[in-house]
Amino acid sequence: MRRALISPSILDSNFAEIKNTINLLEKMHADFIHFDVMDGNFVPNITFGPKIMQPLRPLTKIPFDTHLMILHPEKYAPLFIEAGADIVTVHQEAAGDLPAIIKMIHDSGKKAGVSIKPGTPASTLYKYIDSIDVVLIMSVEPGFGGQKFMEPMLDKVRDFRQIIDRNKYGCLIEIDGGINTKTAPLAYAAGVDIFVAGSAIFGSPDPEAAMGMLRASIK
Ligand code: DX5
Ligand code: ZN
Repeated sequence: MRRALISPSILDSNFAEIKNTINLLEKMHADFIHFDVMDGNFVPNITFGPKIMQPLRPLTKIPFDTHLMILHPEKYAPLFIEAGADIVTVHQEAAGDLPAIIKMIHDSGKKAGVSIKPGTPASTLYKYIDSIDVVLIMSVEPGFGGQKFMEPMLDKVRDFRQIIDRNKYGCLIEIDGGINTKTAPLAYAAGVDIFVAGSAIFGSPDPEAAMGMLRASIK
C-alpha cells in the first residue's frame, strides 16, 4: 500500500502565530510544511520570500516543501535553498531551461519538483519524470487557498502513476488545491503520494482534529 504523506500549507495560517503553528505541525506529525511562494506576476497574489522562511528553519526538522509560483525560478531557487528548502518545486510554465534548474537543485543536494497548472498537459513533463523527485499537479488555478478541487486533474495523476510504476521511477506525485476529506480519497485512488492541504486544516477551528480527519479519510 502507498504511504500517504501530508504537506499542510501555511498560506492561510496566521503569520503572527507562526511559531505556534510550527509547534502544532510537529504535534500533528506533518510530513512536510508546504510554503506557497507567490510573486504577484506568475500568480495574482504575493506571499513571502526567503527572508521569512530562513528564521523558521531552526524551529523544526520537518522538511520544507517549497512551491515557487514565481517567474525566473532559476534566479530565486538558490535563495530558498539557502533559507532551508528541502524540496524545491518550480513551475514548468515559468521555467526557461528546466533541465538546468533541476540540475542546480540536485547539485545543491535538494529534491527537485516540477509543477503544472490545470491548463498544462501532463505530457509536457513526460521526458523529465525520470529526473525529478516530485511532480506537483495543481488541482486549482494557483494563487489562492480555499478554491474548489478540479476533478479532471485526476486524469493527470493516473497518467503519471502509470508511467512511474511501469518504469519504477522514484518520483512522488503531489496534488495541491481543494484537498479535503472528500477529495483526498479520490486523489489517493488515482495515485497521489503527497497531499497539500491549506484551508482544510487551517480553516478549521481545530486544525489538529482536521488533520486527523484528513489522514483518516485517505484509504
Ligand atoms: C494555491 C496554493 C495552495 C493552497 C492550497 O495556489 O498552491 O498550496 O495553499 O490551499 P487549499 O488547500 O485551501 O486549496
Ligand atoms: Zn502550493
